[in-house]
Amino acid sequence: MDAYLHEWGGMLLRWLHVLAGMAWIGSSFYFMHIDAMLKPAPDLPAGKGGQMWEVHGGGFYQVRKWLVAPAELPPELLWHKWEAYTTWLSGFALLAWVYYGASELFLIDPAVADIGPVTAAAIGIGSLLLGWVAYDRLCRSPLGRDEARLAAVGFVVVVLVAFLFQQVFSGRGAMIHTGALMATWMAGNVAMVIIPNQRKIIAALRRGEAPDPALGKAGKVRSTHNNYLTLPVLFLMLANHYPMLWSTPWAFVIVGLILVAGAVIRVFYNLRHSGRGNPWWCWAVAALCILLAALVSLTSSPIGREGLGLAAAEAPGAAPPPAEVVEIVLGRCSMCHAAEPVWAGIPVAPRGVRLDTPEQIARQAGAIRVQAVLSRAMPPNNVTGIEPRERRVLAAWLAGR
Ligand code: HEC
Repeated sequence: MDAYLHEWGGMLLRWLHVLAGMAWIGSSFYFMHIDAMLKPAPDLPAGKGGQMWEVHGGGFYQVRKWLVAPAELPPELLWHKWEAYTTWLSGFALLAWVYYGASELFLIDPAVADIGPVTAAAIGIGSLLLGWVAYDRLCRSPLGRDEARLAAVGFVVVVLVAFLFQQVFSGRGAMIHTGALMATWMAGNVAMVIIPNQRKIIAALRRGEAPDPALGKAGKVRSTHNNYLTLPVLFLMLANHYPMLWSTPWAFVIVGLILVAGAVIRVFYNLRHSGRGNPWWCWAVAALCILLAALVSLTSSPIGREGLGLAAAEAPGAAPPPAEVVEIVLGRCSMCHAAEPVWAGIPVAPRGVRLDTPEQIARQAGAIRVQAVLSRAMPPNNVTGIEPRERRVLAAWLAGR
């Protein structure tokens, strides 16, 4: 029953998280697009705002932007903040639910670092907090005024952190925490800079004072950071479902390549929308980065190496596995990989892989090689204590097939 409830909790949190994220990214891309397309209006000279027309849902819309603010404050204002807050809150809850709630399955890999669930969660949460403070300080430092240098330092920091996470967490735990770190910067930008600055501007207007233009400018800089972080963050959030991306010691290199690819795709759209041409080179750079990431994964992840034939090829016409192999798999794997698993927290055979009869075991020979011989992905974090000798028995069987 616990396992069933855990699944439902994960499903509902993920549902909320994806929905909120769509609303947040949708509105933030929308405003970046508007900003890029604004034309000067007669009463709003360049630098003081602008306007544009849109057509949608059977009507025409005129959008106007005032910089820093209109002379008179409108009676009603729509704020855009709960999309961001809901995304971060539901995302953090999902991270805690899956990775801290079932850390032995997903977060802790004793072959990497033999830490307890509390230590693992503390490292995760602590690094999110510390990461925000470091990023915010960096933005406010003299370096923060030089966008190109800030981007370069930010890139090095993220890749380094991804590498460090790989030294304490499981592969997928490291991947999700790198994504969560950048996602925390994005939500922090909204909660700690953009919205507070907007409040200060409104308070100044209410007092009849001219608001400080630096407040609006700082907000715009942070929302531009968010724009460049969006694509890499989404990639890393999804990547934890793909072992080809995290089951390699070079996962942090993949992170670096995706950071570049995601950012240049946004450069393309930001320039295109502002009428500064179509910088097609952006797509060439993005394609090259993704190709290199695929190459890293192909040559260093167990699944890729199997595909390349770097692992011994599987012989057709499989004979039934020897009794010793069946005994090992029944003893170390079938508590989860059975029609009715007996392992707490595993309601059905994971990924539909059943290993409870000699025939099933023979059919899954290739998958067993990838998961339990070429890599130590299975049993997850070796929860059932398979011994090196037993892995050698599996390897000998597979090599002879
Ligand atoms: C504690 C439960 C448990 C045990 C024991 C276990 N597995 Fe798994 N297995 C899982 C889970 C959970 C997944 C799904 C992982 C995911 O979704 O990323 C999985 C996935 C797999 C897959 C599919 C991988 C894929 O991505 O397609 C294979 C193959 C596999 N296990 C083989 C084994 C073998 C071989 C053993 C024994 C040496 C074993 N498992 C022991 C829980 C277990």
